[in-house]
Amino acid sequence: MPLPKRIVLVGPMGAGKSTIGRHLARELGYRFLDTDRMIEERCGADIPWIFDVEGEEGFRQRESAMIRELADTGASVLATGGGAVMKQENLPWLKHDAIVVYLKASLEQQIERTRKDRNRPLLQNEDPEGVLRRLFELRDPIYTELADVVMQTDRKSPRLVVRQIINRL
Ligand code: S3P
Repeated sequence: MPLPKRIVLVGPMGAGKSTIGRHLARELGYRFLDTDRMIEERCGADIPWIFDVEGEEGFRQRESAMIRELADTGASVLATGGGAVMKQENLPWLKHDAIVVYLKASLEQQIERTRKDRNRPLLQNEDPEGVLRRLFELRDPIYTELADVVMQTDRKSPRLVVRQIINRL
């Protein structure tokens, strides 16, 4: 069976989308793209700055524009931000010409992997674990509905996750 042209990774903060995406792209000989990094490059500022100055809605608009722009990139692996599925208008663009892989992680793994992270504005508050839990409850059904493949990442090395994804393409 021919490989799909695009592989789009969705899932919560701390699921390993960027790390696994980079490995997966290398393994397949695809281009690796990351919406958060591309938004930062385009804007010339990091994500905390964008949230500070433009608010979450400003960031979401940039994110939607980037997802649309990257819908026709051919043989590539796209890592998206955890909130990429929150705008309904993004969903057809994420699906476009793609196999969508939901990288699933338990709340414990999400907490562990995002601990002391300064680069995620939504977690810079008194109760980052509560935020992760609420976001997960809200977003998990959307990730699941959108995904062609659901891949659990808990206690697995990136190499193993990549192998298992490739087996399911
Ligand atoms: C966000 C996740 C982040 C980044 C932004 C908002 C979210 O990406 O897009 O901080 O709403 O879950 P990662 O999932 O790569 O951390």
